[in-house]
Amino acid sequence: MSTLTFPENFFFGSATAAFQIEGAGDEDGRRPSIWDAFCDEPDRILDRSNGMVACDHYHRMPADVALMKDLGLQAYRFSTSWARVMPDGETLNEAGVDFYSRLVDELLEAGIKPWLTLYHWDLPQALGERGGWTVRETPYRFADYAGELVSRLGDRVETWTTLNEPWCSSFLSYASGEHAPGHTNPSEAVDAAHYLLLAHGLGVQALRAKAPRDITVGITTNHTVAHPADPDNPADVDAARRIDGAFNRVFLDPLFKGEYPADVLSDMAEAGLGQVAREGDMAIISAPIDVLGVNFYNGGAHAAPEANATPKLWPGPGGHLIGSPFVGSETVKGVSRDLPRTAMDWEVDAADLAILLRRLHAEYTGPAGIPIVITENGAAYDDQPDADGYVDDSGDRLVYIREHLAAVHEALADGVDVRGYLVWSLLDNFEWAFGYTRRFGIVRVDYETQERIPKASARFFADVARSKQLTLP
Ligand code: NOJ
Repeated sequence: MSTLTFPENFFFGSATAAFQIEGAGDEDGRRPSIWDAFCDEPDRILDRSNGMVACDHYHRMPADVALMKDLGLQAYRFSTSWARVMPDGETLNEAGVDFYSRLVDELLEAGIKPWLTLYHWDLPQALGERGGWTVRETPYRFADYAGELVSRLGDRVETWTTLNEPWCSSFLSYASGEHAPGHTNPSEAVDAAHYLLLAHGLGVQALRAKAPRDITVGITTNHTVAHPADPDNPADVDAARRIDGAFNRVFLDPLFKGEYPADVLSDMAEAGLGQVAREGDMAIISAPIDVLGVNFYNGGAHAAPEANATPKLWPGPGGHLIGSPFVGSETVKGVSRDLPRTAMDWEVDAADLAILLRRLHAEYTGPAGIPIVITENGAAYDDQPDADGYVDDSGDRLVYIREHLAAVHEALADGVDVRGYLVWSLLDNFEWAFGYTRRFGIVRVDYETQERIPKASARFFADVARSKQLTLP
């Protein structure tokens, strides 16, 4: 047995997202988002569910905050629903703002730091119908939304994240069709990637301009660690390079270096990466931020497929499937590393998180002099509740979290500036295209009764959060 001690100011907390937990889909002026519309389409969601009720957090918010306090959590990352705050994408809905204002007050009262994400995928459908992330107008509407909200909540919310996982809102949504709006058009996806980056940059400007005081501003990106299946095979090394470019560097380089990487521009030339960029965009996109939020679930190994293989979908970060046009047809395939897998079929290897953090620090955040916060990390497993609804996940989810916390500690010891860890997720919730069939919570939600029942992993995480110590077997 050994014990790892985290720095006294390192914070532990949990993360959620509006569409995944709030419910109250048509209450108090909220209007549909692109995810409501997507759920209404046949066969988009595995269990044909939607977000109309979800975890009913909208009505149970004070009790959910009390639960976090009981667990000793020090920070809570939530997202605001643009469709609740500005139901038509442009006009402020006071009742919507009021919900988040009450949430923030409740958190501060409980001694929990609010960490606000402005965009976690629920674009107002009204803007979706005008072209969503494939048109240049949307980033400007986003900046208006950011500015309005910070002028209302900036007095009490210190940390603001513009976007959550722009890779998912672009490639996964406009190319692989797995997420709303479900398109399968590579050109739309690369345009969306650019407009999301521009939205981030314009959002940072608006946040800084309209905040009533100094705030901390950042973005959350999701990452993979791309390994060559055979490091001695140049074709596999090139396959891993392409995956790294398509997931990590296509966002990190514009944000930190003000340009798309040359090799990724060439890999995605057919789709037209960067073609909608205008002069001045990159300066806006690469304006300094104060913190990088990192979401990490898994890495993977990649190889060049055999000659004549059919181009197909391969797994990216979080195991999502995406088409090959971005990495060149017939050039890449995912290769199993024979590791344990979660209920999402994602490989588990915590060593990849330490590798990722060291790399981000060396190439991006270190040179920029900014810290990293893990804004999401966690795992879905097929929970087996006992008669009381209690889930003993000490053999899987708890182990996943423990190993990844140890990886964060290792990175800290290597000099990486990591300031906090937010587990995904506080509650079981609506897992996008998987509906309610995948459970990521450290707290079980009984969807019949809406009862919340902390799992073994919640008790474990609460101990770590309180003591700042991690005991390894
Ligand atoms: C990342 C996303 O931000 C979150 O919404 C999702 O539920 C988790 N990954 C798990 O897939």
